[in-house]
Amino acid sequence: MKHDSILITGASSGLGRALAQTLARPGRKLWLGGRNAARLEETARHCISQGAAVELKLCDVTHTAAMAEWVQGTGGLDMVLACAGITGGTRNPLHPDHPAAEPEPQIRRIFATDLHGVLNTVLPALELMERQPRAADGMRGRICAISSVAGLVSFPGTPSYSAAKAAVDRFMVATGGNAKKAGILLSSVVCGFIDTPMVARNAFPMPGLTDVQSASRRILRGLARNERRITFPLWLAAGSRLMDMLPIRLAEAYYTHQPAGAAGSMPEPDLT
Ligand SMILES: NC(=O)c1ccc[n+]([C@@H]2O[C@H](COP(=O)([O-])OP(=O)(O)OC[C@H]3O[C@@H](n4cnc5c(N)ncnc54)[C@H](OP(=O)(O)O)[C@@H]3O)[C@@H](O)[C@H]2O)c1
Repeated sequence: MKHDSILITGASSGLGRALAQTLARPGRKLWLGGRNAARLEETARHCISQGAAVELKLCDVTHTAAMAEWVQGTGGLDMVLACAGITGGTRNPLHPDHPAAEPEPQIRRIFATDLHGVLNTVLPALELMERQPRAADGMRGRICAISSVAGLVSFPGTPSYSAAKAAVDRFMVATGGNAKKAGILLSSVVCGFIDTPMVARNAFPMPGLTDVQSASRRILRGLARNERRITFPLWLAAGSRLMDMLPIRLAEAYYTHQPAGAAGSMPEPDLT
C-alpha cells in the first residue's frame, strides 16, 4: 500500500508531531491538524524542510461536522493517525471536600476529545477510504488511533481517561476485522508513558517512560507489520492485564497507594 497522503490529528505537539516529522519526505503530502497555530506551524516547517508537502488545519476534534469536512475535503487519504488527546486526574477544585471525584467539565471534555474526537476522525476516514480504489495488495487505506495502557485498567487516578482509551482500543480492534475485509487496516496503539508535554507536569515516577522519537518509530514499525494492536512496553501492558484480573478491591488498594493515584498528581487539563 502506498503512503503518499497522510492525515494526522494532534500534530502540534508530542507524539503527533514526532510522527509527522518522521513521516515527512519528498513526494508525500501531510495534512496536519491541531488547535495551536504557532506550534502547528513549527511542525509544518520541519516537515517542509524534509521535502514533504504540508497542508495545515486549525481544528478541534470535538467538532463533528468540521472534522468530517476536513477529512472528506482531502479528496483521498492513504493513512490517518488519530493522535489528539488530553488527560486529567482527580483533583477537583469545584469540590475540594471530595478530592477523588473528577470535575464534571473535565469528565465531559476527556470523553469528547479522547473518544468522540477519535470517532470524529476515524468515521469520516472510513467513509472516504471505502470509496477509494484498492491497491495491488487489496488495501484502500490505513487508520490508527492512539489508545493507552491506561485503558487496560480501571485506574482510579484517571477514571475518564482510562475509560475513553479502553473504548478507543476496543472499537478499533473490534471494527478492524470487518474493516480489513473492506480493504481498510485499523490499528490501536496501547502505549505506556511517552516523554511529551502531556506528562511533563506529572508529579509521580513514570515506569518505562519512552522518548517520543522511539515511540514514534515503534508505532510506524507496527504499522508496517500490519499489527492490529501495537503495544509497548510489553511488560507494562502485561502487568496491567494481570492487575485487571485481580479482585477490584485488591487492585484498587494497590493503585490508591501509588503516587499516580493520589489526587493532584496529574495536571489539570486545558478545558478551554
Ligand atoms: N504521553 C504519554 O505518556 C501518552 C501515553 C499513552 C497515550 N498517549 C496518547 O498519545 C496521544 C498524543 O499525546 P501526547 O503525549 O503527544 O500529548 P501532547 O503533547 O499534549 O499532545 C496532544 C495533542 O493533542 C491535540 N489536542 C488536544 N485536544 C485537542 C482538540 N480538542 N482538538 C484538536 N487537537 C487537540 C493538541 O493540540 P493543541 O495543543 O494544538 O491543542 C496536541 O497536538 C494522546 O491521545 C494521548 O492520550 C500519550
